[in-house]
Amino acid sequence: MTSAAPDTPAIRVHGIKKAFKDVHVLRGVDFEVTRGSIFALLGSNGAGKTTLIRILSTLLALDAGTVTVNGFDVAMDADKVRESISLTGQFAAVDDVLTGRENLVLVAKLRHLSAPSTIAEDLLARFALTEAGNRAASTYSGGMRRRLDIAMSLIGDPPIIFLDEPTTGLDPQARIEVWPVVRKLADQGTTVLLTTQHLDEAEHLADRIAILHEGVIVQNGTLAELKKLLPAVEVEYVEKQPSLEDVFLALVGDSRGETIQRKAS
Ligand SMILES: Nc1ncnc2c1ncn2[C@@H]1O[C@H](COP(=O)(O)OP(=O)(O)OP(=O)(O)O)[C@@H](O)[C@H]1O
Ligand SMILES: [Mg+2]
Repeated sequence: MTSAAPDTPAIRVHGIKKAFKDVHVLRGVDFEVTRGSIFALLGSNGAGKTTLIRILSTLLALDAGTVTVNGFDVAMDADKVRESISLTGQFAAVDDVLTGRENLVLVAKLRHLSAPSTIAEDLLARFALTEAGNRAASTYSGGMRRRLDIAMSLIGDPPIIFLDEPTTGLDPQARIEVWPVVRKLADQGTTVLLTTQHLDEAEHLADRIAILHEGVIVQNGTLAELKKLLPAVEVEYVEKQPSLEDVFLALVGDSRGETIQRKAS
């Protein structure tokens, strides 16, 4: 896949406005996403994250502003933008009746790619689904389903992937199984724009984090830059209590099959 200008940012958003009747959801949104990076868009329910993703993926027209994706303008070059991206939303495209392998082969065939079986094998291996490949997707856990969904969206090697709340609805263990998959994508050069309401997800995954609030990006920076916004708190004595997530993972074992040992004090 070529881009209009390879040295431009993967995504450039300038002055986007979008209203639904008199509800002004986006009031002038600006940001850029560097190629091969993970950019997290953080915002509460109703902040406009999905609206923004729909505009970036050409599913929704904007009222004002400009957006280029892979160097192509979303309004002028929608076809080129669509060829450059894949989108996975909250509702997975996985067909329950088919096996994991069949789901992948089907998408590869729909995209007229040669060697669909080889593509499916490769993706099953990359997403740790080889053993489960011959089972109907209806038997998959939430984490496995989401990994299959992301694998399906990668068929055809789009340079840019949009993940709208990739781990919403998953339990903590399944969530942290999805994170390395996303990290690996970026390491291999794919640009990832994800939305999340989970602060720890942005903290673990993102190279840059932008906070969308009341229609604008109120902060945009690396985790270190965002942390500098608040002064460090001085404390004389700290007893670190385990978080609920620590307790949960200690009891059920983490994704690597190890049970976390925590010394009782
Ligand atoms: N097609 C539409 N028609 C009318 N209002 C809409 C439409 N789509 C979204 N909205 C409104 O725009 C606002 C932003 O919605 P959006 O789905 O983008 O938020 P979000 O940040 O993705 O929220 P969530 O975290 O719940 O997914 C909400 O107030 C929503 O009701
Ligand atoms: Mg949403």
